[in-house]
Amino acid sequence: MSRAGIDAIEIWTGKLQLDLPRTFAPVKGSDPQKYLKGIGIEYSSLPDVYEDIVTMGANAAKQLLDKKELAPADIGRIDVATESSFDNSKPVSTYIAGCLESVYESNFTHANKGERKFACLSGTQAIDDAYNWIQAGRHRGKPALVIATDTALYERGDPGEATQGAGAIAMLIDEDPDIVSISHSQGYGSADETDFLKPNQQFPSVDGKRSVQVYLARMREALADYESVAGKTHPDAFAAVPFHTPFPGMVRKAALLGYRHTIRNTDIEDELASDIGTQPRRNEFDSNSEFDAEMRTYMDGLKQTEAYQEWYADRIEPTIQFARQVGNWYTGSVHIARYSALHSAATAGDSLSGEQLLVGSYGSGAEAEIHVETVQPNWKSAINSVTFAESLASRYDLSFEEYERIHDVHNAQKETEVEPFTNPDGEFIFTGWGRMNERRYEYRPCQSGNAS
Ligand code: HMG
Repeated sequence: MSRAGIDAIEIWTGKLQLDLPRTFAPVKGSDPQKYLKGIGIEYSSLPDVYEDIVTMGANAAKQLLDKKELAPADIGRIDVATESSFDNSKPVSTYIAGCLESVYESNFTHANKGERKFACLSGTQAIDDAYNWIQAGRHRGKPALVIATDTALYERGDPGEATQGAGAIAMLIDEDPDIVSISHSQGYGSADETDFLKPNQQFPSVDGKRSVQVYLARMREALADYESVAGKTHPDAFAAVPFHTPFPGMVRKAALLGYRHTIRNTDIEDELASDIGTQPRRNEFDSNSEFDAEMRTYMDGLKQTEAYQEWYADRIEPTIQFARQVGNWYTGSVHIARYSALHSAATAGDSLSGEQLLVGSYGSGAEAEIHVETVQPNWKSAINSVTFAESLASRYDLSFEEYERIHDVHNAQKETEVEPFTNPDGEFIFTGWGRMNERRYEYRPCQSGNAS
């Protein structure tokens, strides 16, 4: 079986930002520390008036094609993962392909196109589809373009409003990849849940507190399933553990649970025993409640140990740096977490070639998936070529009143005319609706005349 995985990435952030501690918190009457420390998001990225899932996806994809010197005819497949789609029939990938074809000489006529849905998990599922297509030898030597693009908005006043975000990540999936190869083994944890859903509605119905528990339960099942096929995992075997990151506070909970699970019956559990005892085992207790209480005490102790805090600082904290700056990008979120870890290692000058990442993806409804990735020799130059940090720094900072207007602009139930806050410059923009209610787009060339 050949190596296949992520060869290149590009990221497009919504061009506006909402500052949660300084702009959102005062109006909500809440403590800024709730966002900085508790939820863990400082800024949410939001789309300007002329941006949507198509423009953000097409802009990320164009940057990627240009960087790799590829044309549409070089691509064998385009899969778009999104939970913000606006059409139940025509996939977003056709719109994105149409945008790209308007600026390149060749086209995507022979590329297979689709749209993947399973809440936030579908970005990873789209990569799986591309991986399987390559491994089956059906790709005719061509790479696949996977684009995860979302506008994650909640109803105004919903607790989820503090975890919004918007952006797209385009990933080239190919043989002999430059960034990471993907393991053959996978683990799944899945159940029919109604914690977060959008039954033919734009904004989600959310049971926020329960969604946190459902995430943790499915992630635990996926890890156990992964170990049943790939063998026992050890926390020190991984250079980083990127999780789906709806907000960094969620990852704090998942990481502790994952650490507890992976140290069980290992040298680390033994070493910590003199401080906090060994982990309670269910068969040692008469009732679930006694076991749960004992486990809570163990977890509280574990969280305070130097071993856990060092592991968290090395393997988890680097994965959530960008989530703090952009919020939840739904399908793109776990892929931003992977990028965040690699960017942080590249900036620190670390050598990661040959190291492994344990990747935990999740989608409400609900399913978690766990697999391992191996960092490839060319990872650093591939990561250093991504210009995400610069585009984050140039976002327009919204006042609260401007935030209210932009939320209305992107609310499908409202008709609101608002002037854009930024100028499109070398990018695709949304221009309005056509005769069959299709969305229409055009390319705005770069003002400086440098870009194509
Ligand atoms: P909330 O109820 O407003 O917040 O919203 P809270 O009161 O639970 O506080 C959040 C954290 O801040 C807590 O930390 C507080 O203690 C802390 P925790 O105890 O949980 O560790 N806090 C403070 N810390 C320091 N100083 C302070 C302070 N005040 C509070 N002053 C909620 C939280 C998650 C419910 C909300 O944001 C929400 O509904 N979000 C949307 C749902 C969501 O993201 N769920 C996550 C799991 S489901 C998932 O990941 C899937 C998803 O991405 C969708 C998909 O798959 O498609 C959402």
